[in-house]
Amino acid sequence: MTIVLRPGSPDFRELPWLLPLVSWPGQCAQIEDLPRGLSRHPVVFVNVSGGIYALKELPPGKAKSEFEILQRMEELRLPVVTPIGYMEAFSVSGGASVLITRYLECSLPYRSLFMSNSLVRYRESLLDAIAGLLVQIHLAGIYWGDCSLSNLLFRRDAGALRAYLVDAETAHYFPGHFPALKRYDDLEIMSESVDGELLELNSANLLANGIPLDATGAYIRLRYQRLWEEITREDIINPQENFRIQERIRALNTLGFSVGDVALAETDNGNQLRLKVVVTDRNFHRDQLQMLTGLDTEEMQARKMMNEIQEHKATLSRLNNRSTSLSVAAYHWLEHIYLPVTSQLFSLANQNTTLPELYCQVLENKWYLSEKAGHDVGHQIATDDYLKKFSGMDN
Ligand SMILES: Nc1ncnc2c1ncn2[C@@H]1O[C@H](COP(=O)(O)OP(=O)(O)OP(=O)(O)O)[C@@H](O)[C@H]1O
Ligand SMILES: [Mg+2]
Repeated sequence: MTIVLRPGSPDFRELPWLLPLVSWPGQCAQIEDLPRGLSRHPVVFVNVSGGIYALKELPPGKAKSEFEILQRMEELRLPVVTPIGYMEAFSVSGGASVLITRYLECSLPYRSLFMSNSLVRYRESLLDAIAGLLVQIHLAGIYWGDCSLSNLLFRRDAGALRAYLVDAETAHYFPGHFPALKRYDDLEIMSESVDGELLELNSANLLANGIPLDATGAYIRLRYQRLWEEITREDIINPQENFRIQERIRALNTLGFSVGDVALAETDNGNQLRLKVVVTDRNFHRDQLQMLTGLDTEEMQARKMMNEIQEHKATLSRLNNRSTSLSVAAYHWLEHIYLPVTSQLFSLANQNTTLPELYCQVLENKWYLSEKAGHDVGHQIATDDYLKKFSGMDN
């Protein structure tokens, strides 16, 4: 038996590796009972040195290849579960392999989103999140080959959702040129799987009201196409219209995409320029916020917080009667706004909701109360009111 682990991982050797995963519950004290999606292979969650990990049993050799493609996707900064390592066991009967990934905290399985009427506000954003994830992986040169609701996990992101890829068994990396046919393939698979999964929920009488049964896959495809065109389109600009380059970059940043190369080439008649912008990943605000404050958040949460920091920068400049740099404003915001507010929210953070998400909900509440009052009510009033409304409830 061989166990390969990435550096810094805890010691997994104590686990009962000689037993098949299906027999671990009852035999292994470290098993954690947590919700999970449907799967063909046995999956268990274990607690090792205080961290939670998902283990998936696969045929020999398969865990290594899934581990490697997940690592590649992580390098490409795509939203995937974090690969930790794999175990390979050889035996006369053939053996098995086990993939180890870090358990994705605070994620929601799709079933609860479609089954509950109270989560209805998330549904549209769930479909957008799937389209967004497919665009991201295709831009990075990854073909998935198995896009379905059960192979995704969803995390709350400033009132919307972000999709994470969980099952990469069939994924393949095409460095350089990504074949258009592969994009088409992935959309076909997604469309068929999603509609099939909804049909299944419906026949089990588990689907909430108002979900179009056969049009959901087509809807995601449409959202995908719109986003793909927005990102990959080429603009024709006049030589004196350099500002349009900045405009285009800003529009992509607003969608969360970071921009790598900007290419300008003369058109055939030589009078105009062809502008092509290459995006690198979808962590623009997230990276900015992390660099300025050290906070690790989702992209939309970071965008909301960066907007607040920009606003805070303007306020500080006005109060001090001198221009304030973004890093000074960010530090001030962290110390005087973010940390004091979140220190009051600890009791509400749970398996489904992180502190940055709770902070965004307080911001939303502040906006709502300020609208009603006709003036800015401030963070403390919004926090008190939020705690009054939601303490003791499942937010
Ligand atoms: N790292 C993780 N964090 C949270 N949940 C996870 C993780 N890994 C797996 N799961 C849960 O386990 C389920 C099954 O995992 P996965 O889809 O990889 O199995 P599979 O047998 O390959 O699926 P399929 O039948 O699609 O081939 C997922 O839907 C997810 O709910
Ligand atoms: Mg799966």
